Amino acid sequence: MKGKKIIVGVTGSIAAYKAATLVRLLVKAGAEVRVLMTPAAQQFISPLTLATLSKHPVHSEISSESAWNNHVEMGLWADALVVAPLTASTLAKMAHGICDNILVAVYLSARCPVFFAPAMDVDMWAHRSTQDNVKRLLDCGNHLIPVGVGELASGLIGEGRMAEPEDIVATLAAHFQSADTLKGRKVMITAGPTYEPIDPVRFIGNRSSGKMGIALADEAAARGAEVTLILGPSFYGPQHPGVTTIAVQTADEMYEAALMHFPGSDVAILSAAVADYRPQDTANQKLKKIADTLPIQLVKNPDIAAELGRLKTTKQLIVGFALETNDEIPNAKAKMEKKNFDFIVLNSLNDPGAGFVHDTNKISILHRNNKILHFELKSKTAVAADIIDEVATLLSDF
Ligand code: C5P
Repeated sequence: MKGKKIIVGVTGSIAAYKAATLVRLLVKAGAEVRVLMTPAAQQFISPLTLATLSKHPVHSEISSESAWNNHVEMGLWADALVVAPLTASTLAKMAHGICDNILVAVYLSARCPVFFAPAMDVDMWAHRSTQDNVKRLLDCGNHLIPVGVGELASGLIGEGRMAEPEDIVATLAAHFQSADTLKGRKVMITAGPTYEPIDPVRFIGNRSSGKMGIALADEAAARGAEVTLILGPSFYGPQHPGVTTIAVQTADEMYEAALMHFPGSDVAILSAAVADYRPQDTANQKLKKIADTLPIQLVKNPDIAAELGRLKTTKQLIVGFALETNDEIPNAKAKMEKKNFDFIVLNSLNDPGAGFVHDTNKISILHRNNKILHFELKSKTAVAADIIDEVATLLSDF
């Protein structure tokens, strides 16, 4: 925590009095703290208290008569932004980008990890609107510090209490500890489908969305790695500024890009759904509807994984993916050995919510030493964290 730059955002909840303890604990742990308050937060705790504890002026307006507070600069300055307590109202504003106070402006400008510790009454917390907004924040890659259960300001008992300041500090400390696990490492990731052109308009593609590989890229970058993401045509993209994306269309283009970047990489994670075949010929003009049948001759694409597996040195790791419809484990194992992977991630197609397009996935990890780890159905972000944990463990032996 020492020397880390942390912005604490405080909103108008009775739990705002705990922000004083939070700021004090962060400063004590060696962090540099700046505090932002929404106008409503000032009804609950004085800016002077938080300014004194953080040893810096507190900002609560985007501009004042004498100055314009540069929210972009603040957003870029921070190593982490933690909003605690977060009310239902500011949660909704953050989820929908309603930028009417400095806290939301800084949130929208921030490139650092964002943590949020909601605080509200039990029914407000359980409300579908609140839960939808929480999901939106999580989908943007932000981190929820879960609410506690107990007595609430209303006298009701249930979920909705802000996490204790000690627990918030522990969450941040754990984050900074893991943020360095891949520092100095270069990670190359292939992701998404490939499009193999038939003519200038049509192509042969597949249902891969690229979400799993993009989540892996964001997770590896969040742990300090320098990440190159070789991404086939996808509607999505990484959030983390530490990811360099190389956009490709075809398997051949992905192959060229992978061969170029692999020699300088410590790890290659091959999550792309690469087309095995492409049309032998691509028409220069849009094909006309004339004959009743239109045969398309297909030729084999290069196997990127097999080629990288051949080139791999003892200082490099390769992680592959498998999606099997039958004899899942033996088939995945055979693929791992054939392509010289260090471990293989088996996606299940049989579980609802797993595999293509979904935001969730269910995986097993098969190691060379026959160790198999089975995981629950989780968000692709959480699955990415499990996979990167395995990568970090193997790399620590190098
Ligand atoms: O398509 P298949 O099931 O063989 O894919 C297994 C692994 O090989 C995946 O990690 C995939 O990204 C990789 N692969 C590749 N190049 C190909 C085909 C597959 O890198 N042409």
